[in-house]
Amino acid sequence: MLRVGVLVSGSGTNLQSILDAERAGELGGARVLCVVSNKPGVRALERAKAAGIEAIVVNHKQFGSREAFEDALVNVLRPHQIDLVVLAGFMRVLTPHFLSAYADRVINIHPALLPSFPGVDAQKQAFDAGVKLTGVTVHFVDEGTDTGPIIAQVGVPVRDDDTAESLRKRILEQEHLLYPRVIRAIAEGRVRREGRRVFVSE
Ligand code: GRF
Repeated sequence: MLRVGVLVSGSGTNLQSILDAERAGELGGARVLCVVSNKPGVRALERAKAAGIEAIVVNHKQFGSREAFEDALVNVLRPHQIDLVVLAGFMRVLTPHFLSAYADRVINIHPALLPSFPGVDAQKQAFDAGVKLTGVTVHFVDEGTDTGPIIAQVGVPVRDDDTAESLRKRILEQEHLLYPRVIRAIAEGRVRREGRRVFVSE
């Protein structure tokens, strides 16, 4: 069974889609064993509690360095013997310090077709750039920002009558479909990485 830890910072709608897939038996047997937020009082923590999952705050503001913060994250994850760390709306950059503890076992979801539009507010970046197609990327996390090997992508067309908000909503819907599918593929051993290229077998 793939043991999953989810890192969050906000509303947790991606977390919710993963929990719903697990409950529906559509996560390849993977189980979310803990949820960690760097921010207190966010909705994602309520969603975890409602699902009976350990929900912990590790507030990055309470640590003197990124490394100390990341050590605290690892200390929360370690007892659960986590196999896969899933970043779901997690808004902190993780350094090689954390990534060395979970080499090749941290994934993230980004609301654009990387390498286009990395960083924050990717949906609005794409909208303002006037692209006709944007989308969602799930990738392995490396020491860069949104630069790790791409696992899966799905396109989201930009409509003439779109606003930045209507586009953001449509992208989010696709995030909620793609993330559980990728976690299921990893849980079922169907994801293989060769350098920068990742292969997902059906
Ligand atoms: C989503 O757009 C996700 O792509 C980004 O954070 C946003 C909020 O995610 N990383 P969530 O609702 O907290 O899962």
